[in-house]
Amino acid sequence: MSDDFELETLALHTGIHRSQFNEHSEGLYLTSSFVFDSAAQAAARFSGAEAGNIYSRFTNPTVTAFEERLAALEGAEACVATSSGMSAILSCVMGLLSAGDHIVASRSLFGATVNLFTNILKRFNIETTFVSAIDVRVWESAVKPNTKLLFIETPSNPLTEISDIAALAVVAKKAGAWLAVDNCFCSPALQRPLDLGADIVIHSATKYLEGQGRVLGGAVLGKRDLLMERGVFGFLRTAGPSLSPFNAWVILKGMETLKIRMDAHSANALQVARWLEAQPSVGRVHYPGLPSHPQHELAKRQQKTGGGIVSFELKNGREAAWRVVDSVRLISITANLGDTKSTLTHPATTTHARISQESRDAAGITEGLLRIAVGLEAVKDITADLARGLDAS
Ligand SMILES: Cc1ncc(COP(=O)(O)O)c(C=O)c1O
Repeated sequence: MSDDFELETLALHTGIHRSQFNEHSEGLYLTSSFVFDSAAQAAARFSGAEAGNIYSRFTNPTVTAFEERLAALEGAEACVATSSGMSAILSCVMGLLSAGDHIVASRSLFGATVNLFTNILKRFNIETTFVSAIDVRVWESAVKPNTKLLFIETPSNPLTEISDIAALAVVAKKAGAWLAVDNCFCSPALQRPLDLGADIVIHSATKYLEGQGRVLGGAVLGKRDLLMERGVFGFLRTAGPSLSPFNAWVILKGMETLKIRMDAHSANALQVARWLEAQPSVGRVHYPGLPSHPQHELAKRQQKTGGGIVSFELKNGREAAWRVVDSVRLISITANLGDTKSTLTHPATTTHARISQESRDAAGITEGLLRIAVGLEAVKDITADLARGLDAS
């Protein structure tokens, strides 16, 4: 595919390798292994002397199509698909880091990422220092001689804090470390971290890439030598958190409408955020597209629109927040995001419940905070559903 095509065109046409049947839609190769013509060919495939598929834990044509398409959208040389967003983060760390290495990470990360860094990697002697997502100077002072990775999520989950990707890329370069960006909230339709100097992009393809809440998937993207020749692909191939071809196919089809969905999610979210700001029972509204967002100017430079996630604080704490949750009839009470259907979450007791109270306080996740992933319903119907619980608080 030509690099000159726009993102919406690449999202439809990249990664298509038609079979002998000349199918129009992408083929779904549901097979665990591939057949060789001879013992010599099997040996050549295993030794790497001959390119080609061997076993779907390593490669599969449908998964390769997904990898090629996402790489094109992110402007990446290479993409390694994984079974989920968390296995993408795990594969990135296990593939590139060793015992004794150090990570500097934003303290505003998805709860499971904090848990992975704090509790699991620590057992393998990989230490993480958590710092503010928004103050670049603290990143400079947190870097140590053994720092190998800087890790951010921007906008962050759930408070939509914006980290300065270009400035942190400079810090990473100076430290001889890699900057990894979890681009789950924006997707490449709104933000391309590699263009801003990041080394690695992480995706939970479960979210906006897939777009309709059907399957899990993930990806690690970056330079070919970093992903393929170093350990990320090697880790995946050996340890096995590989993307299933069926899930890859579902996500591939979802990606075809990524641009149009992200534009619609963003337009709806901006209207919902403005409406929430006008509600007396609501305190702060966190949405990068609002001029009241502390990093609104940075968000405007770094991402095309504000995205689909809005968080807001109920003045009367957990009781008021739970009342909103328990009053919705249209919006789904579920922890997923990036679905065409709106979803509502109370982060302190769900997505961020397993991290310590101290980490929650440091990340600003209060008992009154709710996160809405604004879907593609009519805005009037979304706000009417939220209003039912708000009126009573
Ligand atoms: C920002 C972010 N990164 C990573 C993940 C993990 O993705 P998955 O659920 O696909 O493992 C999530 C899940 O909500 C997320 O919100």
